[in-house]
Amino acid sequence: MSPPRKLKSSKPQPQVGEIEREFGVPIPGKILPAEQWAKTAFKKLPPGLWNWTELFGRSAPIVIDIGCGNGRSTLSCAIARPEFDHLGIDILPVVIRYATRRGNQRGLNNIRFAVVGGRELLSEHVSTGSVAEIHIYHPQPYYEAAKIDRRLITPEFLTLAHRSLVPDGKLLLQTDNPSYWRYIKKIVPFFFDLQELDGPWPETPTGRTRREIIARRHGLPIFRGTAQRRDDLSVDEAIHLANALPAPTFNADRRLRRLDEIESRS
Ligand SMILES: C[S@@+](CC[C@H](N)C(=O)[O-])C[C@H]1O[C@@H](n2cnc3c(N)ncnc32)[C@H](O)[C@@H]1O
Repeated sequence: MSPPRKLKSSKPQPQVGEIEREFGVPIPGKILPAEQWAKTAFKKLPPGLWNWTELFGRSAPIVIDIGCGNGRSTLSCAIARPEFDHLGIDILPVVIRYATRRGNQRGLNNIRFAVVGGRELLSEHVSTGSVAEIHIYHPQPYYEAAKIDRRLITPEFLTLAHRSLVPDGKLLLQTDNPSYWRYIKKIVPFFFDLQELDGPWPETPTGRTRREIIARRHGLPIFRGTAQRRDDLSVDEAIHLANALPAPTFNADRRLRRLDEIESRS
């Protein structure tokens, strides 16, 4: 995805009580008066392993949305499931600024947003067995050969996800890229029990994320599934396994770039 480069200050700011829309689709939650706003941004990323209880000020199951973009999926999940704490992360500061503003204005105390890569987050900041769910919606396929080593879903990344999740924990995966999905279906079952899901998410039929909304409007198929952690696999076995599995070197089909251009324009 190539998101808009800047927050457009010329846009009218949403008013208290207003329901914001993107492509005509409401962004979950309402804008609250300023005195009820939350603080969903980190001033500075804490070094070392993160203590979820300290970060959220309570003890609750943790959901991480990796590559959360402008935060639509994180917001909707946090509103639908107030009993979970949600961390949305992305490598692009501009999208995290959008997400943070939306989380703050909706007074959502069960969300934090941070600028950090998915791999770095799991390997440096997440303790073993401390996360209930990891969500990944439309990871970038990266079309150019020189960039394919940036693809997020790799055997090594899956060992990190497997290690980070609690027993019975879930990885949720979604993409509109058929080649990426084929790779996911081949590799993920080594670490997780993958169940492919049909049709749109029942509570968000027009799309749970910005990218899904655009892809659906352009008639692209959406592939999604939930993957339950294989608890019979030890961390060491997972690492050993990952060394023997192929990297994601698939051809992502450059024709699908058209959608990225649409996404960055809108
Ligand atoms: C195609 S967009 C999808 C955004 C959002 N999940 C959606 O479905 O609308 C992919 C997002 O992943 C982010 N991203 C790419 N590589 C990443 C990484 N290694 N860690 C975290 N985020 C990453 C990009 O900056 C971008 O915002």
